[in-house]
Amino acid sequence: MSTPQLLDPTATRPYQSYVYAYPHKTTYRPLPDRPELRDLWAAEPKDALSLYLHIPFCEVRCGFCNLFTRIGAPGELTTRYLDALDRQATAVRDALGAGGDAGPVRFANAAFGGGTPTYLEAAELERLCDIAERRMGADLRAIPLSVEASPATATADRLAVLAERGTTRLSLGVQSFVDAEARAAVRPQRRADVEAALGRIRDARIPVLNIDLIYGIGGQTEHTWRASLDAALAWRPEELYLYPLYVRPLTGLGKHGTALTDAGSDADWDAQRLRLYRQGRDHLLAEGYVQVSMRMFRRADAPPQGADDYACQTDGMIGLGCGARSYTSSLHYSFDYAVDPREIRTIIDEYTATVDFGRAVHGRRVDGAEARRRHLLQSLLQAEGMPPADYRKRFDADPYEDFPAELERFADRGWLERDPAAGVLRLTAEGLAHSDAIGPELFSAEVRAAMAAYELK
Ligand SMILES: C[S@@+](CC[C@H](N)C(=O)[O-])C[C@H]1O[C@@H](n2cnc3c(N)ncnc32)[C@H](O)[C@@H]1O
Ligand code: SF4
Repeated sequence: MSTPQLLDPTATRPYQSYVYAYPHKTTYRPLPDRPELRDLWAAEPKDALSLYLHIPFCEVRCGFCNLFTRIGAPGELTTRYLDALDRQATAVRDALGAGGDAGPVRFANAAFGGGTPTYLEAAELERLCDIAERRMGADLRAIPLSVEASPATATADRLAVLAERGTTRLSLGVQSFVDAEARAAVRPQRRADVEAALGRIRDARIPVLNIDLIYGIGGQTEHTWRASLDAALAWRPEELYLYPLYVRPLTGLGKHGTALTDAGSDADWDAQRLRLYRQGRDHLLAEGYVQVSMRMFRRADAPPQGADDYACQTDGMIGLGCGARSYTSSLHYSFDYAVDPREIRTIIDEYTATVDFGRAVHGRRVDGAEARRRHLLQSLLQAEGMPPADYRKRFDADPYEDFPAELERFADRGWLERDPAAGVLRLTAEGLAHSDAIGPELFSAEVRAAMAAYELK
């Protein structure tokens, strides 16, 4: 079933795109049949679902960010948005529980993401937790609950609500502890405010603190990168995410060209990011962290969390909110997607005016062949790799027969190895460093075409 892929001449460039979900949202299209959620979920296992609530609001639009988010929403809009979330949660929960063979509905983990969920005020966060618990039936205090925050919005009263309602992981976007780098990334923030936010998070006693840092920012050197890493390590975070800076079209940095990164040619910039990646990885490994994926590092003695760097290979994700995705085994769906501020406003306004949340309106069917790609891609990008036995068990097929050309190519480049003792297929250290090139090489021709068509829109 494998389709040999034409090698993209840029495929071995290390930083093509961050593949955190496959197929990418830009491949979703309006679903002409608008299937009913109760039919979509009727035969799906529902005893270990993931719940994701998306808050598409931020105080500022950072220069690098192309996430689905709107700046400076007034209180009237956040109220309207929570009202719509409430209606959506009620409709989705009804759909999950419908049907004679529905089986038990249980959530195994939950996350509030964005945007910036802590853009919501304390009382609004209470309401958000109520929606997850009372409408969806998620037992937030009994399952892992992860929440994203920015330094300015991580206020003591909001953190207190989140801690009290069962948050087990707070992920703070820091990006850089160097003020000049924050400015270069168009991320208006001062180190003193970041340090104060970290203090408030530790005071709130949320078990896992994650810090996001970015390498490859204009003006960043090995010296300043080390300074940011050490400033983060001083807080002994249970987790650290190191992101290469991506400059994408339609973002603030993208509109001004990569010159803002001041590294010279694309090849120079790639080489610089690879250098900084290796430096960061080596430093964290020496400090007692374990590498979970190209981006994610976990302190060896940290309590484990539920869902991490990846939308797990299995399905069963319920996303609520207008930027959230939901996955059944055969359909991935969400609302429309945009980066342009005016389009985002329109999509949010349409969401808040929606009355009937009982149907999937925008998405992509995932057939058996795509499910295999997704499994391979998402497991290979984890440092622990993929046991071929899991693949065989799930698909009754062999990954080497399904993807002979791709797996051989990765092995030839020294990126992939088979651990003879454990029988696991896993990326080498160089393979992990090139995770962002590996992901797109595993995309199907159809997914590539749909992504390209979206870019041309
Ligand atoms: C939803 S944000 C985190 C929470 C919060 N909105 C904030 O910015 O503090 C997700 C993270 O993705 C990373 N990120 C987003 N866009 C990126 C880009 N273009 N290049 C590198 N990292 C990026 C940043 O590290 C950011 O903290
Ligand atoms: S990086 Fe975070 S705060 Fe900045 S625009 Fe993106 S989601 Fe909002």
